[in-house]
Amino acid sequence: MPPPMERAAFDIPDAVAYLNCAYMTPQLHWVTQAGLTAVRRKQRPWEIGPADFFDDLERLRELFAHLIGADADGVAVVPAASYALSTAAANVSASVGDRIIVLADQYPSNVYPWRDLAQRSGATVVAVERPDDGDWTSAVVSAVDERTVVVAVPNCHFMSGALLDLRRVAEASRSAGALFVVDATQSLGVLPLHVSDIAPDMVVAAGYKWLLGPYSVGYTWVAPHRREWRPLEHHWAGRTGSENFADLTSYTDAFRPGARRFDGGEASNFALLPMAVAALETVTDWSVERIRSSVEPLTTAVVEGAMSLGLSTHVGPTAGHIVGLKLPPQSLTEVVQRLADAHVHVSVRGGDLRVSPYVFNDLADVARLLDTLAVAL
Ligand SMILES: Cc1ncc(COP(=O)(O)O)c(C=O)c1O
Repeated sequence: MPPPMERAAFDIPDAVAYLNCAYMTPQLHWVTQAGLTAVRRKQRPWEIGPADFFDDLERLRELFAHLIGADADGVAVVPAASYALSTAAANVSASVGDRIIVLADQYPSNVYPWRDLAQRSGATVVAVERPDDGDWTSAVVSAVDERTVVVAVPNCHFMSGALLDLRRVAEASRSAGALFVVDATQSLGVLPLHVSDIAPDMVVAAGYKWLLGPYSVGYTWVAPHRREWRPLEHHWAGRTGSENFADLTSYTDAFRPGARRFDGGEASNFALLPMAVAALETVTDWSVERIRSSVEPLTTAVVEGAMSLGLSTHVGPTAGHIVGLKLPPQSLTEVVQRLADAHVHVSVRGGDLRVSPYVFNDLADVARLLDTLAVAL
């Protein structure tokens, strides 16, 4: 079988079956190259001018906005998903009896900010369990009521790939008048998401997974009616006139337009931003639809093969790029070690063996996973 066309874009030896992109994607050659060039820039600071503090940031806003069908003005560049989620949590008022809805075993960056809000306000964080019939969307929708002030969920669960129908969750949140926040870290870049379909208050994504970027560059889009929120940090670059370096001490209370106030401090990271730009340009160029259609058959092959080995997966809708295989708990650690010895890389998350392929994988990688599992089990 010919190798998938994108494999050569990555530095993955033939002997390695890397099926762990929900952990992080391997870096593209040209993203590495962009980083190497970028890291040298500060050797010559006289070549770094005021425009360099803004241009890559603006390009990232455009690229991220394009991915989610939103306006670039609404995008902020943040150091982590938790940063954006903490910004939202710092701006919500809640009180005793109010409820914040999350999924059971949701990624901690989308739980701790809400627990903190709950501790400050007396509200309660309600973690909705996945029901036995696998219909997590309906379970979330039923949990949302007039006491709900926040619904903060992913598009798909980071452990198992369990998929939520965000339109239905959005509708329920809207009816309850709750803030609706989507952590798309484990879906954006491989699953389509358009803000016009779900009208969220905020979309958040770390950039180092399915967005192919470096660690520590993430994104958030903030709905127009939330752009008056207070930022977590009060940095010089968030204020109007900050392009004029000679006059930064003409202090002003006015923020730059849109969501720029929510950028992290020193967001103009000269070493990392060119890498993030190259990464988002690649996702845009390859297109989410194409990425998805190349990854989905691999995940299906993993599921079918695992079932023929007597393993089970979770019932209910799942995303086509992450699958959680249920293994007997006593064998999990040993199996993962056997897989790593065979250069097959996956993760253990909760009680699941999490498999998450990408465009560089092929059916031979899947066969290697299944063959090793067959021997190890
Ligand atoms: C669903 C989800 N959100 C966010 C993150 C990363 O969070 P942060 O950027 O706050 O480190 C991860 C990392 O695995 C994740 O799976």
